[in-house]
Amino acid sequence: MPQTPIQTVLVTGGAGFIGSNFVHTLVEERPDWRIVNLDALTYAGNLDNLEAVEGREGYAFVKGDVCSREDVDRALDAAEAFGGPLGVVHFAAESHVDRSIESGLPFVQANVMGTQVLLDACRARGVGRFVHVSTDEVYGSLGKEGFFTEETPLAPNSPYAASKAASDLLVRAACHTHGFPACITRCSNNYGPYQFPEKLIPLMIANAAEDKKLPVYGDGMNIRDWLYVRDHCEAVLRVLEDGRAGEVYNIGGHNEYPNIEIVKAILATLGKPDTLIEYVRDRPGHDRRYAIDAAKIDNELGWRPRFTFEEALPLTIRWYQAQTTWLQRVRDGAYREYYARQYGS
Ligand code: NAD
Ligand code: TYD
Repeated sequence: MPQTPIQTVLVTGGAGFIGSNFVHTLVEERPDWRIVNLDALTYAGNLDNLEAVEGREGYAFVKGDVCSREDVDRALDAAEAFGGPLGVVHFAAESHVDRSIESGLPFVQANVMGTQVLLDACRARGVGRFVHVSTDEVYGSLGKEGFFTEETPLAPNSPYAASKAASDLLVRAACHTHGFPACITRCSNNYGPYQFPEKLIPLMIANAAEDKKLPVYGDGMNIRDWLYVRDHCEAVLRVLEDGRAGEVYNIGGHNEYPNIEIVKAILATLGKPDTLIEYVRDRPGHDRRYAIDAAKIDNELGWRPRFTFEEALPLTIRWYQAQTTWLQRVRDGAYREYYARQYGS
C-alpha cells in the first residue's frame, strides 16, 4: 500500500515529452486515478501525444500557464472537482539547453517564476503531495570518474540548468519554511516516444530517415546517461506515492554513452551510412559528462529501470519510423492546429 493515497493528479506540462508519457503511464498503471493536465502548449506541447486519452472519463485538459495564478487555480479547481486526495507532478518547463543559450529569459520565466506560482497555489490549497521533476544537469559536469549523488553540490552550467537549479531551491525552501510536502527528482537524459525532434536522439532519427546530415557537436565524446522515458515515469510515480517529503531522489540507469556512439547506433539500426555524420561547432559551455548514482531511490523505494538501452533504443527508433505522421506534423508545425480543432479557438 502506498504511504500517500492519491485519487487525482494534477500534471503540469502533460502535453510535452515526459509529461505525456507520464499521463499514459498513469492511465495504464493507475486506471482509477483522475488526471488534470495543465499545459500552456508552447512549441513543445503537443496534444497529438494525448489523442488516446482525450475524451476519457476522469481526464481533463486545461490550457494554461504555470506562471499565471489564475490558470493554476483553474486547474486546481478542476482537480478538486474530481475529488479525493490530490497529488501534483510538475513537469512544465522550458527544457532545451540550446534554446536557453540563445535566450535565457523564457527559462527564468517558466521554470523559476512558474514553479513559485505553482508552489504558492498548491500550498494555499493544502496539496498533500508534490513532485518537482528536475534534472541531473543542476549538478554541472563530471570528469571521467564518479557519479552525481543527491549530495553533489549544485553547479549548473547552462541557463536551462541554472533555471532548474533555482526552481529546485524554491521547492526546497517551501519544504523547509512551510513544511510543504514536496519531493524533487533529478533524472538523467530521457529518450522514447513523443520526444520533440530538437533533442539528440529524435533529431538524429528524423534526419537519418530523410538522409539529412546528422550534426554532432564538438568531438562527439560528450557522455550522457540515457534512461528510457517509461522507466523515468515509473520512478516519478514511486516518488509520488512513497517518497519522503523534503527529499531529493536521483533517477538514472547506469547507461553512459558518448554521443557519437548513439548516433552511430541509430545509423546502423536504420541501415544508413556513417557519412551522414557531420561534426559541427561545439555547444558553448557544453557539459562533458553526466552520470547518475541512483542507489537512494533503489534502496528506499525499490525502483530500478526495467528497460535496457539495447532493447529500448531500437524500440524508440521503430516508434519514430512507424509514427511518420506524428513526426511530419511536428516538423511542419501542423500539430499546433490540434488545439483549435479539438477545443475551438
Ligand atoms: P518538453 O519541452 O518536451 O515539455 C515541456 C512541456 O511543458 C510542454 O508541453 C510545454 O507546453 C509545457 N510548458 C512549458 N512552459 C509552460 C508554462 N509556463 N506553463 C505550462 N506549461 C508549460 O520537456 P520534457 O523533456 O518533457 O521535460 C519535462 C520535465 O522534465 C522538465 O521539467 C525537464 O526539466 C525535466 N527533465 C527532462 C529530461 C529530458 O531528458 N527530457 C531529463 C530530466 C528532467
Ligand atoms: P540534448 O538532447 O540537447 O540534451 P542535453 O543537452 O540536455 O543533455 O543533447 C544531448 C547531447 O547531444 C549533448 O551532449 C549535446 C549533443 N547534441 C549534438 O551533438 N547534436 C545535436 O544536434 C544535439 C541537439 C545535441
